Amino acid sequence: MGFNEFDYFRYKVSALTGVDLNSYKGPLMERRLKTLMTRLGIDSYLAYARLLEQDDARREEFKSWFTINVSEFFRNPDKFEELQNVFIPYLLKRSPSLKVWSAGTSNGSEAYSVAIILKETTPFGRHQVLATDVDKEILEVARLGVYKERDLVNVSPERLKTFFEPHPDGYRVRESIRRMVTLRQQDLLKDEFETNLDLILCRNVVIYFTEPAKNEVFQKFSRSLKPGGILFVGATESIINPSQIGLEIVSPFFYRKIEDR
Ligand SMILES: C[S@@+](CC[C@H](N)C(=O)[O-])C[C@H]1O[C@@H](n2cnc3c(N)ncnc32)[C@H](O)[C@@H]1O
Repeated sequence: MGFNEFDYFRYKVSALTGVDLNSYKGPLMERRLKTLMTRLGIDSYLAYARLLEQDDARREEFKSWFTINVSEFFRNPDKFEELQNVFIPYLLKRSPSLKVWSAGTSNGSEAYSVAIILKETTPFGRHQVLATDVDKEILEVARLGVYKERDLVNVSPERLKTFFEPHPDGYRVRESIRRMVTLRQQDLLKDEFETNLDLILCRNVVIYFTEPAKNEVFQKFSRSLKPGGILFVGATESIINPSQIGLEIVSPFFYRKIEDR
């Protein structure tokens, strides 16, 4: 069998960075890879594999570039309003303390957005918000909780005053919100999922996965939810056949775990 340069590259990348290129969609992944290689002036996968092997900084750059970290507070504000006005009250009726997971949280703005909503709805509530991402560096950004104005375009002046404090680099999420969120590194394609969750947000993450990888992740989300629990997905990530994995659609981008009858 001939030597396939890309297969070798894929193998090397997985060994060096933990990123499994097999689970990412072909064209999108190739485009991102090509852009990065052009920027670095590299013209072969073999040369890139060698560089990644030798250079720590290049490895970190690869991970950040590859796992695209774009996010903002209350991304799709109308959906967050629906979360606050419809689904959080629904979940609170079933359980006074909610267990929430922001999967692929990026810089934490998604997790802090939910924490803010929970604080507004139940000021004395004791909820847990778990926020995970595969990318260690972006989790450090989340831990710091400092954001530029462009990340805060959907934050009202009242919320800005109540839940943020001025910081030399923008605004920092106040401690009362930061302490509601637990940050943890986790790869959705490899690692164990939490169980007994009331609400999972996984938005703008699985778009990069192949169909089989995406289906498996959704199936595992379904298993992780309590009966009646809610899964909130991104605007381009609808689930084709939700009932096959024990979910039902309750509103665009919101799914509920079907209860045993
Ligand atoms: C575009 S951001 C989405 C952030 C946020 N959920 C939102 O909608 O604004 C995608 C995030 O998914 C993360 N990601 C990519 N592959 C992942 C994987 N296999 N496991 C966990 N997170 C992953 C990336 O590191 C990145 O931070």
